[in-house]
Amino acid sequence: MIVNIAVDGPAGAGKSYLARAIAKRRGYLYVDTGALYRTVALYMTQKGVDIGNPTEVEASLPGLSVSLDYGDDGEQRVILNGKDVSGSIRTPEISSAASKVSAIPAVRAYLLDLQKDMAKTHSVVMDGRDIGTVILPDAQVKIFLCANEKARAKRRYLELCEKGIATTPEEVEAEMALRDKNDSTRKIAPAVPAPDAVILDNSDLDREGTVEAALAIIDKRLS
Ligand code: DC
Repeated sequence: MIVNIAVDGPAGAGKSYLARAIAKRRGYLYVDTGALYRTVALYMTQKGVDIGNPTEVEASLPGLSVSLDYGDDGEQRVILNGKDVSGSIRTPEISSAASKVSAIPAVRAYLLDLQKDMAKTHSVVMDGRDIGTVILPDAQVKIFLCANEKARAKRRYLELCEKGIATTPEEVEAEMALRDKNDSTRKIAPAVPAPDAVILDNSDLDREGTVEAALAIIDKRLS
């Protein structure tokens, strides 16, 4: 049986850690859909496309080929026009550009089939913003992971520091608040919980506690 698990929620809630951990323990494929929007943003930025202009962005989409690849380590790589760009899409500039391009309907339409097809052929844990509402409305399990703003900003700041990206806690909090506002209030596929999603607030949980809580939700839903 193919199992589809959707993990949605705002930035910095720990979706990718959680989704990756569930996938590993259950032998499913982890699909990070944010990486796809980030790759579109990287391409547009490199090409000098004005990402504030939806017509210009849409007109540039035919020059872009994006795909996902899984190495022997099981880690997802994102391939832009034949090149692995997994490392270059994690900067704060690309985070903000990804949030902007993701509000453009043509960009969402462009990435739709790639995401749906992955889930038709594999058991997946897919994380994003609209997985439970738009991409996998029939997923057997939907988790909406959230945490208060302070906790999320702190986690994201430490994550960026680990990657050697220069920033400050204040900068991270401001960037995240703006991005979440854009992502959750946009007209198309806003980041909101599906009606049948289980809300998991992990403000007071550590990573392992979050994984345990999510596995309990999954086991209950799948039983
Ligand atoms: O999860 P992330 O931070 O890597 O996502 C980057 C941006 O992409 C995020 O600000 C909103 C957008 N996104 C989206 O609109 N829908 C998704 N399923 C995943 C990400």
